[in-house]
Amino acid sequence: MAVSIEQARRDRPTPDVAPAPTSGKGMSLKFEIQPAANPTSEKDRAARLADPGFGRVFTDHMAIVRYDQAKGWHGARVEARANFPLDPALAVLHYAQEIFEGLKAYKRDDGGVNLFRPDANAKRFQSSADRMAMAPLPEAVFIEAVEQLVRIDRAWIPGGEGSLYLRPFMIASEVFLGVKPSAEYIFAVIASPVGSYFKGGPAPVSIWVSENYTRAAIGGTGAVKCGGNYAASLRAQAEAIEHGCDQVVFLDAVERRYVEELGGMNVFFVFDDGSLLTPPLGTILPGITRDSIITLAKDAGMPVREEAYTIEQWRADAASGKLKEAFACGTAAVISPIGKVCSASGDFLISGGAAGPVAMGMRKKLVDIQYGRAPDPHDWIKKVF
Ligand code: PLP
Ligand code: COI
Repeated sequence: MAVSIEQARRDRPTPDVAPAPTSGKGMSLKFEIQPAANPTSEKDRAARLADPGFGRVFTDHMAIVRYDQAKGWHGARVEARANFPLDPALAVLHYAQEIFEGLKAYKRDDGGVNLFRPDANAKRFQSSADRMAMAPLPEAVFIEAVEQLVRIDRAWIPGGEGSLYLRPFMIASEVFLGVKPSAEYIFAVIASPVGSYFKGGPAPVSIWVSENYTRAAIGGTGAVKCGGNYAASLRAQAEAIEHGCDQVVFLDAVERRYVEELGGMNVFFVFDDGSLLTPPLGTILPGITRDSIITLAKDAGMPVREEAYTIEQWRADAASGKLKEAFACGTAAVISPIGKVCSASGDFLISGGAAGPVAMGMRKKLVDIQYGRAPDPHDWIKKVF
C-alpha cells in the first residue's frame, strides 16, 4: 500500500533538524587531564619514531568532548588513547554522519612547537558540521583540544622534517536507526607522528584522470571534510593504482572536463609567464595549504588565477610548453610535484617528469614558515611552547 508523504511525515520518529548551536564562537571548556597510566617507554617510542611513515603510529593520549542536546558540549578530557565502546546501532555506523580535520605540529630548532593555522581548521570544521547537520563545535574548544593533546604528547613530535599529524574528528553517537541528524556527538583528537606522506619524499607523483567516477557535484559535500567523500574516492584511487599511478585526479561532475582536485589534495598549474592557476572553490575542499600558497605567491608578485581549467587544455599546454609545472598540495602531503598525467586517452609528462623550481621553492617557503625558520608575516603560526 502506498504511503502518503503526510503519513510518512507523521510516522517520522523525531524531527530531522540539525542540533541547535549551544555556544558561540568564543565558548571554551576546561579540559580534565588524566595522563595514561602505562605510557609507551622511551625506548619503544624512539623505535616507533625512527620511521613512522604516515598514519600508522599513534601517541599515548587523545582529547575527547561529548555533546548531547540537554548538556551541549561537555565532559572535555585528555586521557589515555583507547577504543570507543560502539553500540551496533550507533548512527555513524549506518549513515556516515562524520567529519574530520588534519593539521600538524612542528618542532622548531629552539625546541618549541608550532601549530599552523589551527583557527582555519576550526572554522572549516564548523562549516563541515553545518553541511552535515551536526552540532557546531566552538572554535576555542577545537583549538584547546588540539593544544592540550600536543602538550601531553610533546615527546612524540619527530625532529627533522617529521611532524605530529593531528586528526580532530566528530561522529554521530546517538543509538538510533532513524535517518535524521543525531542528537549526540563525540568529538575527539588523536595524534600520529609522521615522516613523509609519500614513500620517498617529495619526488614527482603520477596521477590518473578519473573518467569513470566523480567526487562531488554542486550542492553536494565536496567542499566539506566528511568521511563519506573519501569512501567514495577509494574505487577511483584503486583504478589509479591499477594503472600504475600514485594518485587520482577528479573532473567536474557535469561536463566531465574541468580539473577539480586529487583524492586528498588541491592542485596548482604554473605557466611560462610565471603565473599560477588553481581550480575555483565550490565543489572542491577549500584547502588551507591552497589558501596559503595563493597568499605566498601573491606576496612574491606572482599572478594567481582561481579559474576553471580543462583536461584538454592541460594536455595542450603541456605539449606546447606553455605549462611549466603542476603540483598537488595538502597538509599531509605538503607540496608534491606532478610529473606524469595518465588517462584512458593517453599519458603526458610535465616538466619532463621532474620536480619543477616553483613547486620546490613554494614547498620550502611554506615549510620554513611552519617550522619557524622564516618570518610569519600573516600570523599563521600558533606557538604551543
Ligand atoms: N582536498 C582534499 C580532498 C583533501 O582531503 C585535502 C586534505 O586535507 C586537501 C584538498 C588539502 O587541504 P588542506 O591543505 O587544508 O590540508
Ligand atoms: C590531509 O592532508 O590532512 C588529509 O586529510 C588528506 C588525507 C590524509 C585524507
